[in-house]
Amino acid sequence: MTYHTGYEKSAHLYDLFDTKENIEFFLHYGSEAKEILDIGAGTGRIAFPIAEKGVNVFCVETSPAMRRQLLRKLSARPDLLEHLCLVEGNAMSFDLGRTFPAAFLSGSFDHFLNDQERSSSLLNIARHLNPKGKLVFDVFLGFMKDTPLSPAGVVKKGNMEYRRFVGGKLLPDETRETILVFEVYQSGKLIERVEERSLVGVIDREKLHRLLGKTGFGVQREFGDYDFANFQNGHSLLIIEAVKKN
Ligand SMILES: C[S@@+](CC[C@H](N)C(=O)[O-])C[C@H]1O[C@@H](n2cnc3c(N)ncnc32)[C@H](O)[C@@H]1O
Repeated sequence: MTYHTGYEKSAHLYDLFDTKENIEFFLHYGSEAKEILDIGAGTGRIAFPIAEKGVNVFCVETSPAMRRQLLRKLSARPDLLEHLCLVEGNAMSFDLGRTFPAAFLSGSFDHFLNDQERSSSLLNIARHLNPKGKLVFDVFLGFMKDTPLSPAGVVKKGNMEYRRFVGGKLLPDETRETILVFEVYQSGKLIERVEERSLVGVIDREKLHRLLGKTGFGVQREFGDYDFANFQNGHSLLIIEAVKKN
């Protein structure tokens, strides 16, 4: 089954709005390990810089459009073929038949919509980790309120201009509909408009800790940004470094 996460129409525009702010963060963990599992790898935005360091990265991605973008980028970098591979799969059910020292989820945990999806994914990831293997992932805690569709970035390249707008609406079942609009202008004329609607799950920190405990993980460190600042109550971003207990 194709699991629609809201990237099918806009995957070709995804990397344009890359702020790169979390690449160094994940590179830090990537450089510690010889191999990494990158779950929800998207276009390979995090995976490529890690593979460039000679670390083997196994990417798992459910979206066909994101996988196409990753493969397009990989075809331009044959030197990375020995370090980067892509597996079509869902965090809840992929099966690589082996274990890894560390796994990352960058921007993908939010797409697990309820505790069943979160638990299945965490258990499946734990199954793919060595004893004491690390899981590093970010969760956006700021999904707790409605936000109107608002400008969220402009990128100019020659005579092209790309504009992004983001908004969201809380739904009754602890999910949130996210609306992403991309507009592409050529010499000031609108030539493409893409609207994506996707669902993300809403979770708080306490519940997340309980789920991690139940699925065999211990929380080692928590950050509130990608510069390794400690998490404090009120931060809308929570980054967790967890370890598989045994
Ligand atoms: C916000 S993007 C992040 C992509 C990439 N990790 C990055 O940091 O640029 C989230 C990615 O997670 C993928 N994803 C969402 N749910 C997933 C699941 N259950 N299994 C695997 N991938 C998933 C989406 O298709 C999307 O490519």
